[in-house]
Amino acid sequence: SFPSTVRLFEMSARDGLQNEPGDFIATPIKIELIERLADAGLTHIEAASFVSPKWVPQMADAHDVLSGIQRRPGVTFAALTPNLKGLEGAIAAKADEVAVFSAASEAFTQKNINCSIAESLERFIPVIETARQNGIRVRGYVSTVMGCPYQGEVSPSAVAKVAQQLIEMGCYEVSLGDTIGVGTPLKAKRMLEAVTQHVPIDKLAAHFHDTYGQAVANLYAVLEEGIQVIDASVAGLGGCPYAKGASGNVATEDVLYLLEGLGIETGIDLQKLINTGFWITQQLKRNNGSKVALAKGAC
Ligand code: HMG
Ligand code: MG
Repeated sequence: SFPSTVRLFEMSARDGLQNEPGDFIATPIKIELIERLADAGLTHIEAASFVSPKWVPQMADAHDVLSGIQRRPGVTFAALTPNLKGLEGAIAAKADEVAVFSAASEAFTQKNINCSIAESLERFIPVIETARQNGIRVRGYVSTVMGCPYQGEVSPSAVAKVAQQLIEMGCYEVSLGDTIGVGTPLKAKRMLEAVTQHVPIDKLAAHFHDTYGQAVANLYAVLEEGIQVIDASVAGLGGCPYAKGASGNVATEDVLYLLEGLGIETGIDLQKLINTGFWITQQLKRNNGSKVALAKGAC
């Protein structure tokens, strides 16, 4: 049955901008995006990633972005931290929460973070321990949960294994990433069923990209299974630099419209969110990837 409330985790400032080609997006634009999202009622916002600027140039100003945000009670500003160096950066910039990220596919893990799945988990042990000592919660990501751009099929049991390990290591929640958006609803259900044999549903989030236009349908399928946390990106911005052809996360506006239709509470103002999506796509000179935003328009 459907949950009565859903927590949205906003990805646009990180997943949405990390892959943006062309000019470096100025720090004040990133900060303004994040503040507009918080104004719209989002309580969980991934703001940046502390990764190698050689690998992901758009995130080079992670420190300045996190330090520049006007903090507000009740809003969590998070950052990706693949290793201890990243965590140190996140602590210095006063991130409220951090995230480690691995994948269910070996090939993808190599391309994305230059190590094996097992090595990535080894690396996360001191990250999670140090974060805990600093009172910072750690989220975990498993990428390529419904397919990999390099190896193709990914088995649900491989996803379950990495998700279980991340929880056992101390992540409070694991977000299941359909990195290249190849999933379909039945596949999403089967994948989630495999994972929930090892991890309770209230410790899982759905992080679906919309490359094949299936993300809203896939979310409906996992909501039916009881998923209560959804990652999304305003205007459908984004994609992973190490997943060729991957388009953005499902648009937050589209998810909110779906949830409102199901009578599920989020506390977010749809019109403010739509306005933010139009504002940022104008800044980036990009099309708005949210169908709901295009239908309703800015005002
Ligand atoms: P490496 O080259 O194996 O690491 O990269 P290294 O330890 O040998 O370091 C190499 C250089 O990077 C050194 O600098 C380090 O200081 C520096 P140099 O001596 O050459 O000048 N370095 C760092 N700099 C800043 N921050 C750091 C850091 N660590 C090392 N934390 C590394 C390993 C993980 C760093 C690299 O592979 C990397 O940065 N990868 C980027 C991964 C990434 O950001 N991917 C996109 C996000 S994941 C995603 O989008 C999927 C998700 O959305 C879910 C889904 O959709 O599935 C989450
Ligand atoms: Mg992603």
